[in-house]
Amino acid sequence: MATADQLTTRPWLMPQPRDVRPGPPLAFTATPNVLAQDTTPRLERAVRRLPPLGLALRLNVRTRPKPVPALDDAADYRLRFGAVVTVDADSEWGALAALATLAQLGGADSPAIAEIHDAPRFPWRGLMIDTARHFISVPTLKRTLDAMWFYKLNVLHLHLTDDQGFRLRSNAYPDLASTQAYSAAQLRDLVACAADRGIRVVPELDMPGHVHSWLSAHPEWALGDAETIAPSRRFGVHKAALDPAKPAVQEAVGALLAELAEIFPDEFLHFGGDEAVGIERNAQALFLRQVAGKLQALGKRPLGWDECLHPNLPQATTVQVWRGMGGRDVALQAGFDCIVSAPYYLDLFYPADVHYAFDPAADYRTAEAAMFGNPRLAHVREGLGWMADSFAFPDLASPDSHGRSGRLLGGEACMWSELVTDELLDCRVWSRMPAIAERLWSAEQSDALYERLAATRRTLARLGAIDEDRGVLDSYPHLAPLLEMLEPVKWYRRLLGESAYQARLNGLGGSEATRPYDAQTPLNRIVDRIPPESLASRRAEADLASGASMRHWTAGWRRQRAALDDHPALLPELLAVSDALVEIAAIVDGESSADAAPLAGPFGEYLLPIAYAVQANR
Ligand code: ACM
Repeated sequence: MATADQLTTRPWLMPQPRDVRPGPPLAFTATPNVLAQDTTPRLERAVRRLPPLGLALRLNVRTRPKPVPALDDAADYRLRFGAVVTVDADSEWGALAALATLAQLGGADSPAIAEIHDAPRFPWRGLMIDTARHFISVPTLKRTLDAMWFYKLNVLHLHLTDDQGFRLRSNAYPDLASTQAYSAAQLRDLVACAADRGIRVVPELDMPGHVHSWLSAHPEWALGDAETIAPSRRFGVHKAALDPAKPAVQEAVGALLAELAEIFPDEFLHFGGDEAVGIERNAQALFLRQVAGKLQALGKRPLGWDECLHPNLPQATTVQVWRGMGGRDVALQAGFDCIVSAPYYLDLFYPADVHYAFDPAADYRTAEAAMFGNPRLAHVREGLGWMADSFAFPDLASPDSHGRSGRLLGGEACMWSELVTDELLDCRVWSRMPAIAERLWSAEQSDALYERLAATRRTLARLGAIDEDRGVLDSYPHLAPLLEMLEPVKWYRRLLGESAYQARLNGLGGSEATRPYDAQTPLNRIVDRIPPESLASRRAEADLASGASMRHWTAGWRRQRAALDDHPALLPELLAVSDALVEIAAIVDGESSADAAPLAGPFGEYLLPIAYAVQANR
């Protein structure tokens, strides 16, 4: 068997499988697949969703089907190619993973494989979607489930409530729901759709902070002054919090958790607990202890963001670490099970390889140092430093006092949606998520990351699970040589805007009003529609490094400047970056000896990352 890293010249699969035995080239034909023997209804449906590949399939599953997957269900499989393609798996979930492998191979160019043995490294391979800041429609969530199956992700975490929206249409408290919210029937349907793809759905009710949406319906639940609280459009941390001392609050929380527990069969239920700045720390810990107790009484395992780490936190709680990988080590040492999200924030516009460098289980210092040294992140280095210095994790009891250290369940990428709409979600998630999916499934890093990412995304787009149109490039074809080289600025720099960013670095408060975006700002500008990472820049960088002719690049980089004059509405935001690209062309063509580094920007909200490669190549 070849190990994953011997497969590097064969960019077919993502995540890389554990073991592959080479064989003769596989010949797929665009004809219907047939099942060579009966199988379960769920697997029959899954086979019908596969693209026509001309396969005769035999699916052998050793255990009886279950209604929904659970954390420690087996997902390993063995795939053997012959006249009949045979799948052996312990569970339906493993067979579904094997079918995802087949869907990827069907889009590849004559893969030569006899056999694959595969199994996941971590049982929790998640994607969190914030449905509160911007509503994400049910069809988009279902499309997301298809893509999650394709990349062997198995947990969809729905962040259902936040300051700007309450997306559950509760029976007990119908007045809480935002105009756009999910009904119980829609959520149940989503759970069934997810189970058909081997995916668990974990709901989150975020409290005691991030509750402006609750308090705009029930101001009497607020802690402190009964100020009139309107639904919030503003982003950033809000002071409002639930008052745990009020019986009505305890009653509402109990009823809402019971409703969610009934809709979502998963054993985990997320209570939030992050950024609750309006409530004293020990009061929050006491409240979260009560919430965890309510969840356990409902038969659920409580799950919370890492601010819940406290000596009073019940040991049964699983901690989702987001403020830095140091939280993982504190949580595990103190005996808490843990999910790593800190290096997997998709809202920060990082390139795929930045996320990929972080192993959920390993020492993170090397990856963190590389991140601080990454030229693409140089313009937010102070912000990264601020983040690293601002969050401290509590010193919790030693493992001896609890008798065991916690278990690392896996990881979860987070797609916070302040700057994401329903239409933008596919591009924001699937531009980088496959790299994280591989980190959570495969034992090791593999190379050809970007080749495999691009190849599998093309196959996925053909399956219709992501909207892979060229978007902004099709809207402005003559500007393509400029637009394809652009990236949005990183970290929270778009969200904060220039003055709130500077104020944060200087430790000043009171700058929130200067933020450029709120929940009603239209997200239809070029900067919203370009992908988080410029793959054209990577191709140009490779050409530069290999000494290939750059003429076809630099001709376009010059031409775009005149084309921009035909779009006067775009001039204010693109003129500076357009001029910079012309200067870069002059340097690359040997007509200028200027310093390239400043030409990377930022120019407003745009970066020109090719400038770093040009500088490095001088
Ligand atoms: C978080 O990002 N506030 C969990």
